[in-house]
Amino acid sequence: MRVLLTGAYGQLGRSLLDRFPADWVLLACGSAELDITNRAAVERIVRRFRPQVIMNAAAYTAVDKAETDRIRAMKINAIGPENLARAAREVGAQLIHISTDYVFDGSKPTPYIESDAPCPVNFYGLSKWEGEKRVQAMLPRAIIIRTSWVFSEYGNNFVKTMLRLAQTQQTLRVVNDQRGCPTYAGDLAQAMIALARDVHAAGIYHYCGDKAVSWYEFAQTIFSLFSGYYPALRSVEVLPVTTASYKQQASRPLNSVMVSERTAHLYSCWDKALENVMSA
Ligand SMILES: NC(=O)c1ccc[n+]([C@@H]2O[C@H](COP(=O)([O-])OP(=O)(O)OC[C@H]3O[C@@H](n4cnc5c(N)ncnc54)[C@H](OP(=O)(O)O)[C@@H]3O)[C@@H](O)[C@H]2O)c1
Repeated sequence: MRVLLTGAYGQLGRSLLDRFPADWVLLACGSAELDITNRAAVERIVRRFRPQVIMNAAAYTAVDKAETDRIRAMKINAIGPENLARAAREVGAQLIHISTDYVFDGSKPTPYIESDAPCPVNFYGLSKWEGEKRVQAMLPRAIIIRTSWVFSEYGNNFVKTMLRLAQTQQTLRVVNDQRGCPTYAGDLAQAMIALARDVHAAGIYHYCGDKAVSWYEFAQTIFSLFSGYYPALRSVEVLPVTTASYKQQASRPLNSVMVSERTAHLYSCWDKALENVMSA
């Protein structure tokens, strides 16, 4: 399989690099090698390399900053994926693009399924939804995977933030009224590889970890696991707070729990995967 990977050095990109089958021919591009917002550069690389699959792990992921950096967020999250979809169509490649739980507004009392209507409450979510629509218009058989609360041994994520803050703060206030499913980037990478091999795969998929929790419950799980290895963490107090009392630039959906029957065979147990971050 010939695979072009964009955004190769973000946390998902690096998790994919660790897991690509040895017999795949891979062209891995970070933002320095390929800026996905540059249509001509995308077309040049795709025409030259002629991938069978393009995996897009590139994105603008700064949720709060996106509120004021709208043009850049839209370029990277909507125009970039459209450029990839157009180039994929030209060479007959499949595109696997990643989207987010933040396309939903969180008002549904039960978990979101793929056919639920998006209605983002922040600009990041809006830009990702626009990306979904542009990809689907350009390449209707593209694979779009919505994931949530991604963590890994790489980059910036909630697990690393909690452990970093615990080094300097004895009390951490963590939101307890937003619920979602943490997702280990390594499991998401395996799911992408499995879907790349499935010639019938197409359309929108939800893929996330198995258990829904609040950010507060996620933090508690992190500290209870990690304090077995770092006893100093036992003295850190985690306090539940409400979204209303925790001011952030961007609104967040209160419920971003997703489920899927389409990816049930690609099961991901996130609390077990936390140990991978521990041992990294
Ligand atoms: N992280 C989460 O909790 C979460 C939740 C739901 C969905 N997602 C989605 O999951 C996917 C992977 O996220 P992640 O956590 O791996 O993100 P990440 O660690 O922030 O990585 C994103 C990568 O995209 C690259 N990039 C940014 N602009 C680019 C451009 N114009 N051209 C090419 N590359 C560019 C960045 O490179 P530079 O650093 O060099 O700019 C970075 O390496 C994204 O689609 C994201 O929206 C993430």
